[in-house]
Amino acid sequence: MEIKSVLIVDGVGPVCADTLTSHGISVTTKPKITKEELLQEIPKHNALVVRSATQVTEEVLAAAKNLNVVGRAGAGVDNIDVNAAGKKNVMVINAPGANAMSACELTCGLILALARHVVPAATSLKAGRWDRALYTGTEVNNRTLAVLGLGRVGREVAVRMRSFGMKVIGFDPYVTSQQCQEFGATKVELSEVWPQADYITLHMPLIDSTRSFINKEVLNSCKKGVKIVNVGRGGLIHEPDFLEALKEGKVGAAALDVFEEEPPKNPLTLEIIQHPAVVATPHLGASTKEAQVRVGQEIAEQLVNLVKPGTYKTP
Ligand code: MLT
Repeated sequence: MEIKSVLIVDGVGPVCADTLTSHGISVTTKPKITKEELLQEIPKHNALVVRSATQVTEEVLAAAKNLNVVGRAGAGVDNIDVNAAGKKNVMVINAPGANAMSACELTCGLILALARHVVPAATSLKAGRWDRALYTGTEVNNRTLAVLGLGRVGREVAVRMRSFGMKVIGFDPYVTSQQCQEFGATKVELSEVWPQADYITLHMPLIDSTRSFINKEVLNSCKKGVKIVNVGRGGLIHEPDFLEALKEGKVGAAALDVFEEEPPKNPLTLEIIQHPAVVATPHLGASTKEAQVRVGQEIAEQLVNLVKPGTYKTP
């Protein structure tokens, strides 16, 4: 495959550019690029490397006269129109395992933060209050955690939260009961998840069948006060239904790292973020030094292998 020039956007770690240039591939790096700039720039390149911010739409692909491959420096390819890419014979590659541990660790941290009111308690103390009673938490020991989506991230979360004494139940149509047991989770049907779970954490990809997975009907079937963590994708949650459930106390607390629109501008999403029971972070699941080195390296190695097959052993 011909890859002479690569455009890297969205703040992919420098290791990606360094690896490509060390193989004589020319690199243009534009950490922040507008749609208009992208449409101008893309015809000059044979490969495009993105994280989650840049939307690789049909329009972008139509303008990409010389593009052979789009590399997603991460797992989810939901910001790339893979059908349009396929029609144009543009290959889409990703680095699915490279940031899984980072996403897992943020998830576990958020579960514990919700249980012990870490964020509101710290904010209150900084504001000069000393309110110990208000921030009495609950132990996670013996509570039930439902892990929805038992891929690379979900199963690491299951293993780690088991060590905190949580009872872990899991749902994933592609994972068997036996595989579930290997990482300490019990496979259940979806209908069994909602009445059992004290905590629900979302780790499935955003595809048509998972969009708005957490909706009014599901939230009505959950235990009152259920705590929900989303380090997966914003679109998994139907935000209007979610806000209503927060206001009614059906959702007791939530930790959200991802949103339907990023950065969020929709007033409804902003209301969710401002809700006192919500801890919100700006899509940080994969944002660790280690993960960014791994994803950048892995995407660069795959691109080099497309030009010079067998140069790197791919994971
Ligand atoms: C992923 O899909 O792996 C993450 O969203 C990566 C990222 O934050 O860029």
